[in-house]
Amino acid sequence: MRSFCHGEINEFIDWLDTDGNIINASDGGVIFADGKYHWYGMAFRPLPMNGGPCGGQMTDIGVVMYESCDLLNWKYEGVILEVSTDPKSELYAPLRFERPKIIYNEKTKQYVLWCHYVKYPGNHGNGIGECDMGLAVCDKINGKYKWLGFKRPIDNYGWVRDMTVYKDINKVAYLIYDRHTPDPILGDKTGGLQGDRCLYVVKLSDDYLSFTNEYKRISSAYYREAPVVVYKDGYYHIVTSGLTGWATNQAIAFRTKRLLDEWEKIGDPCVDDITHTTFNTQGTNAFLVDGTDTHIIMLERHNTSNFLKSSYIWLPIEFNEDNTVSLRYKKEWKI
Ligand code: GAL
Repeated sequence: MRSFCHGEINEFIDWLDTDGNIINASDGGVIFADGKYHWYGMAFRPLPMNGGPCGGQMTDIGVVMYESCDLLNWKYEGVILEVSTDPKSELYAPLRFERPKIIYNEKTKQYVLWCHYVKYPGNHGNGIGECDMGLAVCDKINGKYKWLGFKRPIDNYGWVRDMTVYKDINKVAYLIYDRHTPDPILGDKTGGLQGDRCLYVVKLSDDYLSFTNEYKRISSAYYREAPVVVYKDGYYHIVTSGLTGWATNQAIAFRTKRLLDEWEKIGDPCVDDITHTTFNTQGTNAFLVDGTDTHIIMLERHNTSNFLKSSYIWLPIEFNEDNTVSLRYKKEWKI
């Protein structure tokens, strides 16, 4: 790849790895480690949504990783968190390791991977293992991650939907997730949109392997998901989407000076986005380009007729003088 190439906002452009294969790493992240960038995500199945009981949006491969020195040429490093063929295993596929995020713990010298885990057959639900946080660790960035099981933050009453994990400037880590609690009248039967949906921030333990009881409901981020966190000049910003499943919708950004404090709603960060669809994408993650001041937001244009043909939209985040963030669409660019 010579540049980040996105095309028009209704186009799906394939990004290929150095072997010429389509990069299949959904809703993950990029981490700089051992002098290289490592891009990881859940590998979708090559099936359309209506092509079987589970569709192409689950995985029967796992979480995969690619490495690069320049963010443009990505070499496939293989599966880092593998599914199992044993029906008794928690990793029996197809399942979902949705929105996996890796952070490094300096004290334990471990890479810690959290994801939104949805057990076989990978349908979002309300039962045990259908709306939980999955955890895996490795002592190498690109080794085989060891599965440590799944758990639920805060209490069992709140189902886990979209999530991210974020390590702040003081190396304290947080889970930010869409907590879904049942409708008080209809109870557990509603699924989908009913009930209470709100983003919460939960502080992780020092080893990043469990949740503490320090948490905050981001009351302003009601009915929001796909959280992406970026920090600059004293402010933490989150860019979020609305709740329309795979259909794109308008982004809203929030900001705070302290992650466990009140968050202020700022509005749509997308400039000239006349379609109000986040340029026909949904957020995934943000990362800092090593040795620069450039933060890149990773967005994804999901293709529900063939998830393998989803495309990656990476844009530089603009930081404004009033401490807000903006996103501007670029058909093509490079650093
Ligand atoms: C989206 C969400 C994705 C995935 C999808 C449907 O709204 O952001 O992570 O859960 O719905 O499965």
